[in-house]
Amino acid sequence: MTETIALGTPAVRRPRIPTRQGQGYFIRTFGCQMNEHDSERIAGLLEADGMVPVDRPERADVVILNTCTIRENADERLRGYLGALRAIKRDHTGMQIAVGGCMAQKDREGIAGGAEWVDVVFGTHNTHRVVDLLDHAAEWGPITEILDETESVEAMPSALPAHRRSPHTAWVTITIGCNNSCTFCIVPAVRGREISRRPGDILAEVRQLAESGVTEVTLLGQNVNSYGRDLELNGRRPLFADLLRRVGAVDGIRRVRYTSPHPKDFREDVAAAMAETPAVCEQLHLPLQSGSDRILAAMHRGYSAARYLEKLAMAHRTIADLTVSTDIIVGFPGETDEDFAATLDAVAEARFDGAFTFQYSPRPGTPAATMDDQVPRAVIQERFDRLVALQNYIGLQRNQRLVGRTLEVMVEGPSRKDEAVVTSRTRGGLPLHVDGKHPAGSYLDVTVTRAAPHHLLGSRLP
Ligand code: SAH
Ligand code: SF4
Ligand code: F3S
Repeated sequence: MTETIALGTPAVRRPRIPTRQGQGYFIRTFGCQMNEHDSERIAGLLEADGMVPVDRPERADVVILNTCTIRENADERLRGYLGALRAIKRDHTGMQIAVGGCMAQKDREGIAGGAEWVDVVFGTHNTHRVVDLLDHAAEWGPITEILDETESVEAMPSALPAHRRSPHTAWVTITIGCNNSCTFCIVPAVRGREISRRPGDILAEVRQLAESGVTEVTLLGQNVNSYGRDLELNGRRPLFADLLRRVGAVDGIRRVRYTSPHPKDFREDVAAAMAETPAVCEQLHLPLQSGSDRILAAMHRGYSAARYLEKLAMAHRTIADLTVSTDIIVGFPGETDEDFAATLDAVAEARFDGAFTFQYSPRPGTPAATMDDQVPRAVIQERFDRLVALQNYIGLQRNQRLVGRTLEVMVEGPSRKDEAVVTSRTRGGLPLHVDGKHPAGSYLDVTVTRAAPHHLLGSRLP
């Protein structure tokens, strides 16, 4: 049965008393940091209602899938998982399954139509309503279609209670949505127009986090450099550079990271704030996407490869010891061997410490999906392999320069592969595995002894 409910009606907005005391919940997250942060908030909302986390869907009364739709394989992974849950639900009377996140926002009917064992489909704009929706479904049957709500500051993930993944590090939302129109990207269609959170609210959250023991925060937004365009405080727009300085000055905060800046909006004031604020880490994630000007224009990125490289050089000049990562898409429609060669050239010149490399995936509804000259899969795969090989080589060289140096790291916890080793992170964001048992959240000085393309090994000073 499909039911449409109007959110905002008294039935859904009624005040609640916790009714799910002791019930178990399990959340599976498919997407990016923002998606993970939303999951922390969903967990917080469920726990406020008395629920407790369990480690497997088989043990859960409520299973939440927080979806992503950035590339086709994200959609496919969800379908596979949903199929497995169907069998589990058959053996668990009363289990509820809710599908939220970006894919749910984009294609509610698609999810619900193919999976009648799903109880609730809720979009990113309705995350804060998850408990009400589950209750409503328990009483009235599946809610597979909900009227859209526009995004609001109250619904921002950081404005809701959270169950955080770590007591020492935290994500802090500074903007939601995206006003850009990269032709390959589905995010603006699912996350909506950009809204900035007020600096006072952000700082209040960071202070509260610091008081609770958090020492590292990562500021989140799709394009953090456009932060504040929609705000006016004392007659002027608040700037991201100022926000960085203010967050960096909060007592107890030792590390500030942020993601992602857009190259077209990345300017000297932000690089200067990074260099001059001791707590702001020497880490920059600056998505290049392509090294070909023709492709960059077709992507609507708003910069040329040369302009990107100038900004990168400016960042390296301004911020000593900067670690840089990037995103690159291989096989955007119309990409020729020459265009791809330009990407390899840009990567060789930029000498990134790391790169997230993606095979272009057409997203229905985006301009690129219907462009002529879609590149054949086999060609994309071959180019992709060459790009990965080049970046692995550069990444290894970059990491090798750190061997023998002593770096400050923050311990994340025991290594998954070896209990006698902890995984930690450098200020540049590189994973560094250290011998010995050290408590999560502690800061150590570690001498790098070996380098691999994607991580470092080290030991403590004698
Ligand atoms: N707002 C961020 C990007 C978020 S999406 C930014 O602009 O920096 C993360 C990355 O996914 C993008 O940088 C891009 O490299 C990749 N991506 C997005 N859409 C894609 C698609 N249709 N196919 C392949 N990769 C894609
Ligand atoms: Fe997508 Fe471009 Fe916005 Fe990033 S800046 S979320 S790639 S539209
Ligand atoms: Fe993130 Fe995927 Fe949505 S990358 S913003 S969860 S589409």
